[in-house]
Amino acid sequence: MELCRTTAAFSWAHSISPSLHFPQRFSMCESKGLRVCCAVNASASGQSQKENQMIVSVTGATGFIGRRLVQRLLADDHRVHVLTRSRSKAQFIFPAKDFRGIVIAEEPEWKDCIQGSNAVVNLAGMPISTRWSPEVSIRNKKRDQGKQGQDYLKGASETLVFKEQSPSGNDYLAEVCREWEGKAFKVNKDVRLVLIRIGVVLGKDGGALAKMIPLFNLFAGGPLGSGKQWFSWIHLDDIVELIYEALSSPSYTGVINGTAPNPVRLAEMCDHLGNAMGRPSWLPVPDFALKAVLGEGASVVLDGQKVLPARAQELGFTFKYPYVKDALRATLLGS
Ligand SMILES: NC(=O)c1ccc[n+]([C@@H]2O[C@H](COP(=O)([O-])OP(=O)(O)OC[C@H]3O[C@@H](n4cnc5c(N)ncnc54)[C@H](OP(=O)(O)O)[C@@H]3O)[C@@H](O)[C@H]2O)c1
Repeated sequence: MELCRTTAAFSWAHSISPSLHFPQRFSMCESKGLRVCCAVNASASGQSQKENQMIVSVTGATGFIGRRLVQRLLADDHRVHVLTRSRSKAQFIFPAKDFRGIVIAEEPEWKDCIQGSNAVVNLAGMPISTRWSPEVSIRNKKRDQGKQGQDYLKGASETLVFKEQSPSGNDYLAEVCREWEGKAFKVNKDVRLVLIRIGVVLGKDGGALAKMIPLFNLFAGGPLGSGKQWFSWIHLDDIVELIYEALSSPSYTGVINGTAPNPVRLAEMCDHLGNAMGRPSWLPVPDFALKAVLGEGASVVLDGQKVLPARAQELGFTFKYPYVKDALRATLLGS
């Protein structure tokens, strides 16, 4: 499958069907870096389950999105296996007294946990809004050298609209995502696979917004870059609900854009953010300041793409926050 050109802004949450009637055991689990998710027939797990109760293994459960997803699953009485690289970190985030019934597993135990699950959600990964390693830079450099004289498609555009079927880009993030999705599609064909391409998630306690808020305080909430770039965002509650729906509804398959239906230009986003923060929106936040807090991942914000969640809407998904103004208000008010 080709990734859409929007991939520069996106990463993937790979989830597998929660169906309680998988015909076969899941047959493979790739390394965490490959973001492949797998599932197993509930009856094969050997554990007693209530009707419609899922056992979901979640990698990256200790992160910004994962923590909220774990709470969402537990609220509906599902069981969660937290697959982590650090048991102590996970125990700190999910203290046993408050999170009864979750299983915390480090890497050697992941396979058994997955075998005993109905579904796997893969949220593990380094944030895009971070400094990239030398290997990333080297890879970028090689490709830049190779593109002389060629008409490369870029992952960003001020005019194009990206839906799930849009062609893939050729920038570094598009390439990485193409590899991830390619690996994920190698999963056993009996396993329902959903690949959610996530936009910039708006939440107070993580993601790009948490890093941008102090900048906005410092620079009086002005625009970023030219301000004309598209900003494809989604509220934390909505991305968690979309993942939950993907787990619960067999009609969710394949690639689904995880963005709100009304992307905005960055200038508009900044206006709303300034208003929501009660700050005037006049002094532009310089690119260098954004790059200082978001690293090379600032390109995701500064280059921008207009992404539409065509599949989610076809599937009838209801966004709690379709408009950025409401999403920002809710985020900053902590509701
Ligand atoms: N937040 C956004 O706006 C956004 C937008 C698009 C895509 N995404 C993607 O969605 C996923 C979850 O996002 P998030 O914001 O919740 O991320 P996060 O807060 O950074 O958490 C990700 C989790 O992944 C694990 N992890 C971190 N680095 C890793 C590495 N090098 N190898 C393996 N595991 C690693 C960590 O869990 P343990 O330490 O417990 O193993 C961490 O808690 C990520 O892949 C991210 O790239 C996020």
